[in-house]
Amino acid sequence: MLLGNQMNDQSQSIETVILAAGLGTRMKSETIKILHAAAGRAIVDYVLDLAESLTDRKPILVIGHQRESVKEHCGERARYVVQEDQLGTGHAVLQAAAELGSSVQGSTVLVLSGDVPLTRRETLEGLITEHRRSGNAATLLTMILNEPALYGRIVRGSNGELLRIVEAKDASDEELLINEVNGGIYVFEARDLFETLSTLSTNNAQGEYYLTDVIARLKSNGKSAGAMVAEDPVETLGVNSRAELATVEAELVRRHVDELMRDGVTFRNPSAVSIDSSVRIGADTIVHPFVTLEGTTTIGRHCIIEPGVHLKNVEVGDHVTLRTSTVAEEATIADHASVGPFAHLRPGTVLGRSVKVGNFVETKKATFGDGAKASHLSYIGDAEVGADTNIGAGTITCNYDGVNKHKTTIGAGAFIGSDSQLVAPVTIGAGAYVGAGSTVTKDVPPDALALSRTPQKTIAGWATKRREEMKKKPE
Ligand code: UD1
Ligand code: MG
Repeated sequence: MLLGNQMNDQSQSIETVILAAGLGTRMKSETIKILHAAAGRAIVDYVLDLAESLTDRKPILVIGHQRESVKEHCGERARYVVQEDQLGTGHAVLQAAAELGSSVQGSTVLVLSGDVPLTRRETLEGLITEHRRSGNAATLLTMILNEPALYGRIVRGSNGELLRIVEAKDASDEELLINEVNGGIYVFEARDLFETLSTLSTNNAQGEYYLTDVIARLKSNGKSAGAMVAEDPVETLGVNSRAELATVEAELVRRHVDELMRDGVTFRNPSAVSIDSSVRIGADTIVHPFVTLEGTTTIGRHCIIEPGVHLKNVEVGDHVTLRTSTVAEEATIADHASVGPFAHLRPGTVLGRSVKVGNFVETKKATFGDGAKASHLSYIGDAEVGADTNIGAGTITCNYDGVNKHKTTIGAGAFIGSDSQLVAPVTIGAGAYVGAGSTVTKDVPPDALALSRTPQKTIAGWATKRREEMKKKPE
C-alpha cells in the first residue's frame, strides 16, 4: 500500500521513453518487430500498457522504421519522436529531449524497449522505488541467464557495485562468461541522462551510440548507478527473433490461463491452448486441449469447450456445449445451446437459447430462434429460422442466384423434411411442414404442407425379371 501511495505521489514526474525505431533484422520479416502479434496483440501494446500503468504522462515512442504503420497502430496512446537513422539506442533516447523540453530537468525518465513486453508493473515500481531510495542517477533492470547470448553483460566491481555494461559484440572472452545481463529497462534522472547522452561516442564494434555507455560515463563523472536483478528473467526477455516471439507468446498465454484458472475456469491441459489476452471466460467452464480462442471472444459460465474448437470474435452464453472441431467467427451463441461436432458458424450467425446445431452444419448470416434445431449436414445462409423449428438432415438454403444473395424466412414451429432445398427468396410460414426431398420455390403458408417430389412408382417383381433377362443374353 505504501508503494502504491508513493507511486501515485511521484508518478506525475515520471516520463517514459519507449525505443521502437529499429526494424529487428533477426525477425527476417517485412514487418517491424514491435508490430508482430503475441496472444492477439502487438508486442508494443504491452509496453504501452506498462507505461500507462506507471504514469499519467503519455509515453514518448521513438519511431523510425515503418513509422507510419507504428503511428497508425498506436494512435493517440503515444507522443512520437522520429529517429531518422538508427544510430543506436543512446541516439534514440536523445531524440526525445526536444519533446520532453526543459520541464524534464527535475524529473525521472523511465526508458523501456518496445520489444520487451513481459515486464510486470510491480517490478518496475520496485525499480523506481530502489532508484529513489538510493539516490542514483541511473538504475537498471538486469537478469541472470544461463545462456546470456547477445545481451549486454553487467560488469560489477569487487564489492558487487555496478561499473559498466559491455555489449556482447564488444566483450572480451572473460566478459562473455558473465551471466548477469542488461534487460534494456532503465530509470534515469533526466538531467544526468541528457547531459551524458550528448557526450557518447560510436567507438565500438557496431559503430553506434550505445545507451548502455551512459552507465560508465555517469560513474566517471562521480554519479552513482545501480542495477536490480529481476527475479524472473522472462520479464526482460526481448523479441529479437521468431523463437523469442514464440517464448513471449507462450508466457502471455500461460499468465492469462493462470488468471482464468484462479477465477474458476478448468483447463484440462493448460499448456495446449491458444488464447488471446482479450478473451474472457466464466467460472465452471471446462476448456479441453487444442482450443484456439481469439479476438473479442467471451464465453460464459458452465460451458464445455471440446478439443479443436476455434472461435474468433464470438459471444458464447452460459451452459453452452461446443463440441469437437467447431469453428465460429463473428457469431453469437445463447445459453444452453449445443454446437458441433464439426460445425461451421460463419459471420452473422445468431443462435438463440437451447438451439442445437449438429455435425457438418454450416451457417452464415442466420438467426435461429430459441429451441430451433439443425442437427445434421445442412447449409443455412441468409436465413431466419423461427423458434422450435426443426431443420431436417441435408437441408440447403439456395441463397445465391449467381449474382445476388436472397433471404429464406422460416416461421416458428415449422418442420423442414430432410434433403430439402429452399430456393430463396422464400418464406415458410409458422407451423408449416415441408416434405422430405422437396425443392421449395414458392412461399408456404402457415400450417400448410409443401411437397414437391415426384410420386413414387413401385413395380412388383421387376428386379427378378430383369436378372432373368440378363442371364438369357448371349455373351
Ligand atoms: C539492447 C542493449 C543490450 C541489452 C538488450 C536488452 C544497447 C546498446 N544494447 O541490445 O545491452 O541487453 O537491449 O534487450 O542498448 N532502437 C532504436 N534506435 C536505434 C537502435 C535501437 O529505437 O538506433 C530500439 C529497437 O527498436 C529496440 C530497442 O531500441 O526496440 C533495443 O534495440 P535492439 O537493437 O533490440 O538492441 P539489442 O541488441 O537487443
Ligand atoms: Mg533487443
